[in-house]
Amino acid sequence: MTARLVVLVSGSGTNLQALLDATADPAYGASVVAVGADRDGIEGLARAERAGVPTFVVALGDCADRAEFNDRTLAAVAAHDPDLVVLAGYMKILAPHVVEAFPMVNTHPALLPSFAGAHGVGEALAYGVKVSGVTVHFVDAGVDTGPIIAQEAVTVRDDDDEATLHERIKTVERRLLVDTVGRLARGGRPKIEGRKVVLP
Ligand code: GRF
Repeated sequence: MTARLVVLVSGSGTNLQALLDATADPAYGASVVAVGADRDGIEGLARAERAGVPTFVVALGDCADRAEFNDRTLAAVAAHDPDLVVLAGYMKILAPHVVEAFPMVNTHPALLPSFAGAHGVGEALAYGVKVSGVTVHFVDAGVDTGPIIAQEAVTVRDDDDEATLHERIKTVERRLLVDTVGRLARGGRPKIEGRKVVLP
């Protein structure tokens, strides 16, 4: 069986591209059935269109309030009947009933639980850490607080700025996300004991 992925993006979509490239191989075990975004005109959507994958946009500014935003996002995702939802640089916080509706993973450019939130790379750098990295985790109702599935470290260089560090993290991130999503797609249900996740 091929797992159905819905991928949500807010930006350039290089993580999405890595997933699209991986799904070209049937042995990967998953295909991207739709790409959604919280804004129009982004490269992430253009990548989906070039790959012939259906897209949708639900923008907060087009909704009366957050409740409508969440309900419309939920409906748009559900319409594609996903086995797994992947947040790949999606920058909106979704309501608990949305994140609980499907198995959902997020990728974060820092080693959680340190430096959660939208500015993880810059905050890690400003803190002076010598090692940062990437975390792929299940999404729960909090901000970057769900059970961790996979992590990989990236060494911080003395001359790094936010852009150089983020680029090096993203090189690792794309590989880790593709690997983790593939394992989830092919392997069925992971074992989750408390916060501890073990992939089959
Ligand atoms: C990734 O580093 C993601 O973790 C962060 O934003 C970046 C998105 O990159 N939240 P891209 O859009 O996949 O190129």
